Amino acid sequence: MTTILAIETSCDETAAAVISAGPALRSNVVASQVDLHAQYGGVFPELASRAHAEVISAVVAQAMAEARVEYADLDALAVTQGPGLVGSLLVGINFAKGLALATGLPLLGINHLEGHIYSLWLATDFDQPDFPLLALIVSGGHSELALMKQHGVYQRLGGTIDDAAGEAFDKVGRLIGLPFPGGPAIEQAAQSGDPQAFSFPRAKTDGDYDFSFSGLKTAVMRAVTVQPSGRRNQRRRGDERHAALRDDVNIADVAAGFQDALTEALVATTCLAARDFAVRAVLLAGGVSANTLLRQKLGAALDLPLYVPPLPLCTDNAAMIGAAAHFRLRAGFRSPLDFEARASWRLSEDVYADELSHS
Ligand code: KG4
Ligand code: ZN
Repeated sequence: MTTILAIETSCDETAAAVISAGPALRSNVVASQVDLHAQYGGVFPELASRAHAEVISAVVAQAMAEARVEYADLDALAVTQGPGLVGSLLVGINFAKGLALATGLPLLGINHLEGHIYSLWLATDFDQPDFPLLALIVSGGHSELALMKQHGVYQRLGGTIDDAAGEAFDKVGRLIGLPFPGGPAIEQAAQSGDPQAFSFPRAKTDGDYDFSFSGLKTAVMRAVTVQPSGRRNQRRRGDERHAALRDDVNIADVAAGFQDALTEALVATTCLAARDFAVRAVLLAGGVSANTLLRQKLGAALDLPLYVPPLPLCTDNAAMIGAAAHFRLRAGFRSPLDFEARASWRLSEDVYADELSHS
């Protein structure tokens, strides 16, 4: 039975997991830095890498202990190679390389976006449909629409041309005075709001399968902040943090209106791509896939099966990296030990063409 230890440190979660053939979850440990970054209203890269370095050893040890495995029981190691914050990625990559040297186990550098897709394979009710599949990956760093033709074979159809969906949630959350991360906070605030109270824009993009959320963010900013009168009072672009909030605005209505507009854009574009490419099912993944309204609206709009990960596997975790590695390993891939972190790395026909050599 193939068993893999996977490590993920691409952003602000230090995570390790043990995955066995299936793929099946043996352990899944996530040390979140959310409290550390909350005071800055977003992820502070330098602090993130330092915090990863402090806890990675303990997180990996815990994942091994909870799975009740020894290094001798493992068949491979996997680590997120990118995309992500380079300083954060390097902590996980260097730790994994050290383990590979010490144990002699093969190491696989895994694409984080592919990892999000493979979070679906860890859902207990996931009976993989036939290819092609359409994947919508929506997180704090990414909003990508990709056609999955086979295991490991993708065609990127589009993505955001400005803010990622989760980033828009986080920025708008900060703007309306909600705690970081904005996604869950906005979802909660929206429960008592009227989504019709504001009519926020649904952005059009040149690319059929692209998204744009910065106009929506600006519209929310205009609706909730006191507009500067003279030149002297003008705020710098993007300085939404210091804008004064109007006191006659219902924050719950704003949250509901924003969530409605953003999810509608995601749903419309995903449905268009699902129809144009005659896919067999749609996979929704990434932190924003935890959003109930998005799940409901997309499920109702599609006349195809929609698969969503279990809630703990929506946000960053190492289990999904292990699941992706399981299929990579099965296909005979290994990474050379001198591979480097990749800050940006899109899904493509052959994600690993330059990165991995067949063993
Ligand atoms: O996948 P993830 O943990 O990290 C990245 O790879 O970026 O996603 C984190 C993002 C954050 O922007 C957070 O606000 C968003 O996912 N998020 C949500 C919800 N839960 C997390 N957005 C909307 N609704 C939610 N319930
Ligand atoms: Zn992610």
